[in-house]
Amino acid sequence: MRIILTSQRKLINNFKKVCICRSITGGTIMAAMSEGVLSFEALRRKIRVGTGNCKAKRCRPKIEAMIQEFKENQKTSVKTSAVH
Ligand code: FES
Repeated sequence: MRIILTSQRKLINNFKKVCICRSITGGTIMAAMSEGVLSFEALRRKIRVGTGNCKAKRCRPKIEAMIQEFKENQKTSVKTSAVH
């Protein structure tokens, strides 16, 4: 059951708009981070998050949290793969 909830949450986050002003979804941000774009400023240049009317007041904290979580997951997966 937990696996289903986790995958459902990931699916919802992929379609959920993180940068509301620019209609940029979590999936778009995740795809950019997977390509190695790992700072807010780099994401701003690459996919234009934070360039809307609110000037990133609404989305910046959420995006920075996503970047932090992504980096922590990368560290965890590197440690896990080193064990195997
Ligand atoms: S929500 Fe991202 S710029 Fe306004």
